[in-house]
Amino acid sequence: MVTIGFASDLHFDHHSGLLLRFVDKIKKVSPDVLVLAGDLVTGPGRIKAVLRPMTSLVSHVCFLPGNHELWLARHHRHVDSTMLYKEILPTQAHIAGAFYLGMEPFFIDRIAILGVTGWFEDYVSHQTPDRRMVRFPDTSTPMDVVHWMAELLDRQLAMAESYADEIVVVTHTLPFPKKMARFVDTETVPYLGSELLGEVILRYSKVVQVISGHMHIKYEGRVDRDSMIPWDINAFGYPEEVGDMDHAIQNAIRTITL
Ligand SMILES: [Fe+2]
Repeated sequence: MVTIGFASDLHFDHHSGLLLRFVDKIKKVSPDVLVLAGDLVTGPGRIKAVLRPMTSLVSHVCFLPGNHELWLARHHRHVDSTMLYKEILPTQAHIAGAFYLGMEPFFIDRIAILGVTGWFEDYVSHQTPDRRMVRFPDTSTPMDVVHWMAELLDRQLAMAESYADEIVVVTHTLPFPKKMARFVDTETVPYLGSELLGEVILRYSKVVQVISGHMHIKYEGRVDRDSMIPWDINAFGYPEEVGDMDHAIQNAIRTITL
């Protein structure tokens, strides 16, 4: 049996003191694997600092970047978001003692945990800074990034299907955004993620769990034609969304056992 704890969208740079409280929560939950589904910090600069206290407590910390980790700072003239995703963030995670989700699966006890950040079908023009904060060379639309991410996901799933008995898929953006349409304006749905990732996921029979982030919500649903696969979102959110902090910390890590 493997206990997987998962959390996302902690946005540590918006909450003073949250890292210490989150680390304290990790001690109490003590999962075998901690999955972080993105948006821990903005940009790549602080990722080592937030992962290190976690990797000193949990044997396996799996970190997947969110869109915020792929944002470029002004001094990043010679770096682009693809380099952050494929080279810089994996190195930072590795130095901090974490496994980098996004490029290859993590295996434990015949279970594969794998994922991709995903991307948006379109930006919500008046709301999102993503349009100007990321740069993916060789792409001209956000949907091009979605296609790249879908290929990365497909490749990992094909590998995991051969070697694992059960597969947990982690995405930052939503693979089933239409399921959330009732919670947002119609124009925001393309900014939640893309159904293309969902289509890829549902092609693989060994997928037993999907975990996502990005949308600041607590959600427990089920997907596929027979509604058999659990799809969970356990996002923390920005300070103004959190409400009672003690209650939020209490629910900051959700667990599943496989
Ligand atoms: Fe996000």
